[in-house]
Amino acid sequence: MKKQEKIIAMFNEISPSYDKANRILSFGVDISWRQKACKKVLRCFTDNSSLKILDVACGTGDMIEIWQECAKEQNKKIAKIQGIDPSEGMLEVAKSKFKDVDFIQSLATELPQKNNEIDILSISYGIRNVVQRKEALDEFARVLKKDGILLVLEFTKRQKGGIIALLRDFYLKHILPLIGGYISKNKEAYKYLPNSIDGFLSKDEFIKELEKAGFDMMFFESFSFGVSSMFVARKV
Ligand SMILES: C[S@@+](CC[C@H](N)C(=O)[O-])C[C@H]1O[C@@H](n2cnc3c(N)ncnc32)[C@H](O)[C@@H]1O
Repeated sequence: MKKQEKIIAMFNEISPSYDKANRILSFGVDISWRQKACKKVLRCFTDNSSLKILDVACGTGDMIEIWQECAKEQNKKIAKIQGIDPSEGMLEVAKSKFKDVDFIQSLATELPQKNNEIDILSISYGIRNVVQRKEALDEFARVLKKDGILLVLEFTKRQKGGIIALLRDFYLKHILPLIGGYISKNKEAYKYLPNSIDGFLSKDEFIKELEKAGFDMMFFESFSFGVSSMFVARKV
């Protein structure tokens, strides 16, 4: 099996326990990271138009729920919201939670959307798993409208030391595989998380990739002392 296929197979295996493990392992704090990010992006849309939102690597649909909640709070209309993920298992869980959302099984590198169709494209804790990242960023730029916004939430490789960064890495490498492995009965999958962060980019490296793909960086923010990073970029 190739690397990308292995990653997707792993998410299929852990999909039934993914939500439970996620909430426990993040102490529920990921919800506030997601809310802050979605609110920030929605505030960029000041006119009254209805928004087309696409959540790539949607998994079990966590971002979909937050988009809907935050749009309601800010009185923003959503014309269409779609979730895309290659994992059948993750999508099955997502479909059981939402009735009015379109879920499509696909890779980030093969989006079925037309050119210049989407106002907001989000990908949360997903880009690290995309082996052909450059192709995916090109796809994001293709389907977004001009001035459309890309939101990426991700765990980036740490650039400098500091006690919080060291604690995060200790938690990810030693505690998370134990707890995640126990909940999902799949320790290997939860060893993959810290390894995939190590194999990913630093904040500065990822910003360079976004700019190369045709995006203008608008906001960067790190949450919980650098545990999670938010990138908001505009398609130029
Ligand atoms: C850590 S989960 C994140 C799920 C969800 N976005 C969230 O925030 O909870 C990563 C997701 O990326 C998906 N994924 C892996 N490779 C992908 C690819 N090449 N294209 C799109 N999604 C991919 C997996 O199936 C999985 O659902």
